[in-house]
Amino acid sequence: MSKPFEFGGLHHLALVCKDMQRTVDFYTNILGMNLNKGFDLDGGYGQHFFFDMGDGQELAFFWFNDAGSAKPGVASAANLAASGKGTITSAHGSMNHLAFSVSKDKIDGYREELVSRGVDCSEVVNHDDVITGDEKRTSDMPTEKTWLRSFYFFDPDGIMLEFCATLSKGVQVADLPVNEKGIKANGQLITGTV
Ligand SMILES: [Fe+2]
Repeated sequence: MSKPFEFGGLHHLALVCKDMQRTVDFYTNILGMNLNKGFDLDGGYGQHFFFDMGDGQELAFFWFNDAGSAKPGVASAANLAASGKGTITSAHGSMNHLAFSVSKDKIDGYREELVSRGVDCSEVVNHDDVITGDEKRTSDMPTEKTWLRSFYFFDPDGIMLEFCATLSKGVQVADLPVNEKGIKANGQLITGTV
């Protein structure tokens, strides 16, 4: 069957900030992204700014004059991934985290650079591509099974960001999806927390 739509990757992702000055400072001065565009919304409702995240893709932010406050665990991740501080849960329909592609040869240096810029980063995680139940999904050192290497940090609004490098293509395999009760079509139940 032919595919109905041809997707060309991400055009932009639009997030919401509390303080556009703080957001512009973080994304331009700390992460070094170019600010491509920024404008006031009609009627004084807010602002809409666009940062260049490479490859023709933009990260957009809104500032709304009537926006609600941050809700970690609901609208954003409860805790930083790989920090050992707790789960990364967020609510149905939320944006949990945003991963930027970076070079596998540069990711360790990038983490050091961010730490030197005062950003609290998780350790670099080696994500291994394994069959569920056979082995752990992460390892201390990269191995031939390592699919991705990445680390995590928060932006000033508690939006979880990830720098992610692809090491290998990985295996195209998917476990059965669960329903709203956490049960698979074969009756298997997913329980517990990470
Ligand atoms: Fe991720």
